[in-house]
Amino acid sequence: MYVLDGICKVFDGRTFAVRDLDLKIRRGERVALIGPSGAGKTTLFRILNLTIPPTSGTLLFDGLESRHFSGRRLRDVRRRIGTIYQQHNLVPRLQVVHNVLSGKLGSWSVWQAVQSLIRPAELDLALGALKQVGIANKLYERTETLSGGQQQRVAIARLLVQNPEVILADEPVSSVDPTLAAGIVRLLIDLSETHCKTLLMNLHSVDLAFAHFPRLIGLKNGTISFDLPAAAVTDEHLAALYAGSGTEAAEEEIVSRAEPSFGRSCQPHLTG
Ligand SMILES: Nc1ncnc2c1ncn2[C@@H]1O[C@H](COP(=O)(O)OP(=O)(O)O)[C@@H](O)[C@H]1O
Ligand SMILES: [Mg+2]
Repeated sequence: MYVLDGICKVFDGRTFAVRDLDLKIRRGERVALIGPSGAGKTTLFRILNLTIPPTSGTLLFDGLESRHFSGRRLRDVRRRIGTIYQQHNLVPRLQVVHNVLSGKLGSWSVWQAVQSLIRPAELDLALGALKQVGIANKLYERTETLSGGQQQRVAIARLLVQNPEVILADEPVSSVDPTLAAGIVRLLIDLSETHCKTLLMNLHSVDLAFAHFPRLIGLKNGTISFDLPAAAVTDEHLAALYAGSGTEAAEEEIVSRAEPSFGRSCQPHLTG
């Protein structure tokens, strides 16, 4: 799905957000990206969803070189990639149904979009997506009245309506109650399995990454610190990944990984 060769992104001529990244992601693969704040995770996602071009290096999406994308071709390719953010970018005052159907905006004409605001087009589509994320009863609620976890589900339903081949989730559960976080991660995994979608997720929580993903990539200072099957990632890998980042969260992660009672190889899938 993706081949990255020597990808660099430099901001303002001096900040190397990512440097010399070589990476392959197969179609249908599920990969978690972890690493300290400022490691370049979001920048990498913005490169992968073709929001920003790399400063140098080659990016192939489905065998096509990204530097050849522009105009209509770029829009068509972007439609094949869906992104979920920590801040889910919903319109709070709109009814849930409109937020969900905005997943279609990339493929609708302006006229269809305007009509949809008056009378939601493809209601069945919105309802079907909301059923899959477990909140079909919220179709006509104002989005801002929903809880944080429910709003993230609306964002996932919007993604289902967009129906992309690739899902990039950038810290999708960082603003959600921790007890609901595992349920939302699991939902994204299940959807990617059911619909054969490639899923890449940035996760603040190392435990969630271990519990749900077969492949883990550690990113630090814009470079790949490790890229391994989850079972092969050791506490030493994690300690090196977060060393010097000095954030309390990172230290907590390392301490929690080092707990002897916590065997990640037999970590059950959490639901919530
Ligand atoms: N638009 C931007 N302009 C300038 N610097 C940026 C921009 N976006 C990110 N950076 C810098 O690039 C580095 C990586 O940031 P980011 O990709 O957001 O890391 P992460 O998501 O891992 O926290 C940081 O030093 C950040 O300050
Ligand atoms: Mg980020």
